[in-house]
Amino acid sequence: MKQDPRFPNLFILDHPLIQHKLSHMRESDTSTRTFRELLREITLLMGYEITRDLPLTTRTIETPLQKMEAPVIAGKKLAIVPILRAGVGMSDGLLELVPSARVGHIGVFRDPETHQPVEYLVRLPDLAERTFILCDPMVATGNSAVYAVDVLKKRGVSDAQIVFLALVAAPEGVEVFRNAHPNVKMYVASLDSHLNDHAYIVPGLGDAGDRIFGTK
Ligand code: URA
Repeated sequence: MKQDPRFPNLFILDHPLIQHKLSHMRESDTSTRTFRELLREITLLMGYEITRDLPLTTRTIETPLQKMEAPVIAGKKLAIVPILRAGVGMSDGLLELVPSARVGHIGVFRDPETHQPVEYLVRLPDLAERTFILCDPMVATGNSAVYAVDVLKKRGVSDAQIVFLALVAAPEGVEVFRNAHPNVKMYVASLDSHLNDHAYIVPGLGDAGDRIFGTK
């Protein structure tokens, strides 16, 4: 896991398999089907890394030989919260890893002119004592990511209960996120070069939603 001195709350998952799969996803001639498969695979690998610090407790179980205090994940079930619509491409992979997780949804779209997030749906599981994994493949301006964390924090979820998972981020967006939520950890596969005039990440991978769902 790599860090950038500019962004103390950003963690770059530089595992070779993650990096290899991301490179293939970036290629413009990768098909919708392959893009989706790679997103699922990369999310499994990233999910494995970001759940490393989940608190454990023990439960008494009985093996065929004897009783033992066996480690199990503490607290309530995880909550996975994709930011619609592209985040759904990541929540599917995370659910394979943690099948008993609860799933919330936060629907925001980016106003094409102001680039500000506009909310159209929020559905969440009960909030106390859960870890929330917010996911969205692209952190471009950072506005949707900040907004989604605001949604949780306004309802009383603490910084330490939230992690943000993305594939690719732009430094501009990470800066906005850090200023708004310096104590929320963000995990990405890549910190790219910059945003272009249309708020697309460069080099990026294009429009993640369109590439996942095969739309234009
Ligand atoms: N959203 C995307 O899907 N891609 C970008 O490059 C920026 C925002």
